[in-house]
Amino acid sequence: MVALLLLFLTLPVAVFTKDVKCPEGFLHFKRTPTAKNNHTKNWCMKVSVYENVGNRDNARSVCLADNATLTIPENREEYEAISAYIRKANISEPHAIDGQISQKCKLKMFRHQRLRLEINTTRWTGDCNIKKNLFTFDDVNTDTTFALTQFEWSVPNGQGATQHDRDPKLFWVDECLKMSQTHYTGNRTGLPFVDLSWCMGVDGTDKSDWRFKYRVINSVLCGRRPL
Ligand SMILES: *[C@@H]1O[C@H](CO)[C@@H](O)[C@H](O)[C@H]1NC(C)=O
Ligand SMILES: *[C@@H]1O[C@H](CO)[C@@H](O)[C@H](O)[C@H]1NC(C)=O
Ligand SMILES: *[C@@H]1O[C@H](CO)[C@@H](O)[C@H](O)[C@H]1NC(C)=O
Ligand SMILES: *[C@@H]1O[C@H](CO)[C@@H](O)[C@H](O)[C@H]1NC(C)=O
Ligand SMILES: *[C@@H]1O[C@H](CO)[C@@H](O)[C@H](O)[C@H]1NC(C)=O
Repeated sequence: MVALLLLFLTLPVAVFTKDVKCPEGFLHFKRTPTAKNNHTKNWCMKVSVYENVGNRDNARSVCLADNATLTIPENREEYEAISAYIRKANISEPHAIDGQISQKCKLKMFRHQRLRLEINTTRWTGDCNIKKNLFTFDDVNTDTTFALTQFEWSVPNGQGATQHDRDPKLFWVDECLKMSQTHYTGNRTGLPFVDLSWCMGVDGTDKSDWRFKYRVINSVLCGRRPL
């Protein structure tokens, strides 16, 4: 009798709940809607495999082909689910994810490099602080707060300059976010997984240079709303 009553109570809910469907190849995630994720209740994510998506515009274009944008895990559960999928599909790490140092903050870094001033984005006050607007994101439907606490190293991590004779000094910095540690099967509790890479990917890099191998990224995390 109790069971029958419960059945009648729950049936209408099941009948009227709209089925949320992601396009083929995308994983479905339920999210808590907040002002910081543009009130997103459902989000679809896909790990797209394509060569040289360390190049940011290639990565952006690969997502666009699926009517998606670059995206980033919103919490530990999303990161773990995507990692498990990546291990099962045997997709090599690292993976390009949303987020890039703003051009204004990059200029500030170059200025500081040139004058040999300290670059510390944790200590910097103002817009280029890591918790403020150091990074810009393509995706408006993801709260990036969690991901920005998951850096494996300091930010920036990888920068330098070249100079020939009396030519201008040419600066560079790794400024695009990438996700790693997806294959690690030891203790994954609290594992940090975000680092930075060169936004040009392997374009123009000599294949025999050690930096070629380090800069190869062949998969990108894309996200979009359900169908
Ligand atoms: C937030 O999501 C709605 C769709 O629900 C969309 O129309 C709007 O453009 C999004 N906001 C921004 C800032 O893109
Ligand atoms: C992307 O959106 C366009 C326009 O709505 C549609 O014609 C196309 O089929 C979509 N492509 C994919 C892969 O979803
Ligand atoms: C996984 O990928 C690696 C590198 O591409 C390859 O060497 C290995 O054989 C693959 N393993 C499986 C089970 O497909
Ligand atoms: C940056 O500053 C913070 C806070 O003062 C300090 O803990 C950290 O070690 C500094 N990082 C670097 C790379 O110097
Ligand atoms: C796993 O790592 C976490 C965080 O470092 C630690 O607190 C926990 O004790 C570890 N668990 C095991 C089983 O080693």
